[in-house]
Amino acid sequence: MRWNSSLLIGDAHIDGQHQGLFRLLDTLTLSTDDKDNRSRAEAAITALRDYVAKHLRDEEALLRSVRYKDYAAHCASHREFEIDLDRIAARIAAEPPTVVLNEIEQFVSCWLVDHIATVDMRYKPFIIG
Ligand SMILES: [Fe+2]
Repeated sequence: MRWNSSLLIGDAHIDGQHQGLFRLLDTLTLSTDDKDNRSRAEAAITALRDYVAKHLRDEEALLRSVRYKDYAAHCASHREFEIDLDRIAARIAAEPPTVVLNEIEQFVSCWLVDHIATVDMRYKPFIIG
């Protein structure tokens, strides 16, 4: 799953972060070549997790600034995603790094494309006012 211009939501900062997330996912996939390097995999997951958290908080701040009507539901969707991501990431302690990294890459890229195209698109009219 890749970023493409149909996913533009109309805010330069948020659109830049969305593209940044997909770029980060590409590096996650590359590091799967280091089969047994668990600490590198853990560092890559931490970097992704930090980027995700920063992006979601920035997006939530944008939605607060325009008093978005579905703010609570939108935040709940973000929380659910973060919980699911953390659940997969925690498996790095016991499972092969390649397996966990691949699953994270799949999960996050699919979630992002679906979330941006459906849930994020609903706030587009309210921020480009
Ligand atoms: Fe969102």
